[in-house]
Amino acid sequence: MPKKIIAVIGATGAQGSGLVRAIQNDRSGEFNARAVTRNVNSDKSNELAKLGAEVVAADIDDVESLKRAFEGAHAAYCATFYWAHMSPDREKVQAKNMAEAAKRVGLQHVIWSTLEDSRKWIPLSDNRMPTLMGHYKVPHFDAKGECDRYFIDAGVPVTFSRPAFFWENFIFFGMGPKKGSDGVLALTLPLGDTKLPGIASEDIGKCAYGVFKKGREYIGKTVGLAGEQLTGEQMAIAMSKALGTEVRYNRVTPEVFRGFGFPGAADLGNMFQFQADFEKDFLALRDPVVSSSLNPELQSFDQWLAQNAGRIPLG
Ligand SMILES: NC(=O)c1ccc[n+]([C@@H]2O[C@H](COP(=O)([O-])OP(=O)(O)OC[C@H]3O[C@@H](n4cnc5c(N)ncnc54)[C@H](OP(=O)(O)O)[C@@H]3O)[C@@H](O)[C@H]2O)c1
Repeated sequence: MPKKIIAVIGATGAQGSGLVRAIQNDRSGEFNARAVTRNVNSDKSNELAKLGAEVVAADIDDVESLKRAFEGAHAAYCATFYWAHMSPDREKVQAKNMAEAAKRVGLQHVIWSTLEDSRKWIPLSDNRMPTLMGHYKVPHFDAKGECDRYFIDAGVPVTFSRPAFFWENFIFFGMGPKKGSDGVLALTLPLGDTKLPGIASEDIGKCAYGVFKKGREYIGKTVGLAGEQLTGEQMAIAMSKALGTEVRYNRVTPEVFRGFGFPGAADLGNMFQFQADFEKDFLALRDPVVSSSLNPELQSFDQWLAQNAGRIPLG
């Protein structure tokens, strides 16, 4: 029987490449990946082709290209890439394009990689944190949450996936420990004593594959993904062990974090405050037991560090 195609948006990126690998590594599975990229000739695209994935061109800004990329597929993994442009408006257009294309070609299952609309917990009138860009508390969360409607309104059979903090942020996003004036490495986060659900980005794709394999069971449902839930202190202790040098947890207030001044600092300061203030809801949705039921290879933070500690830049 021919394999059913899963089109993967962002296939050369963190979430998407993990899904393509999960699909292609399951040789006897019922699916084949169609990797969607803007550049079918890049090294990353070539690597996916070598795994046996079909590689096709599309841009999520261009709905017609998405319809072509989804044509003949059974399912699609849909994601947006906020940090590439930092525009909630653009993210909304891109999500709408994917919902429209999915509906038009009649996909049987879509996973929409989304996040909470924080304004359902913290209305704009709540002054515990600043309103950003005039309409948002946590722009990169709120826009995604707002976009859930597009998939529902289009009548697309959708599963909402809400990933946790990617531990790769410690490598690529400048969030790793930095040396303080005393020469000791400090992990600076505005979490107080609350737990932050985190995940290896590779596991997001593996969990998504688990959702697709379960078929209709997850349609209409929201699934949170996490490998482990840890406090700043616990993450610093784990990093100290893995790096063989002391890492201290430097707890700062969200206000201080927002003031760090790098692009997106206010958005992330609000995000951490939102997660800390509503820790119970955040942790309840992102249950590692559920994630490991979808992906038996789910990594703990220690396991992730054993593979990746050497890649964390130590400033
Ligand atoms: N970091 C976290 O802790 C975290 C947690 C939860 C959610 N998120 C969300 O995850 C998203 C980022 O996902 P990621 O880390 O998997 O991304 P990523 O690794 O940065 O990968 C992005 C990929 O998307 C493709 N892409 C970018 N713009 C595109 C466009 N206009 N059309 C088609 N493809 C496009 C690029 O592929 P080509 O260049 O090959 O086209 C790129 O390889 C963000 O929206 C973020 O808010 C992040």
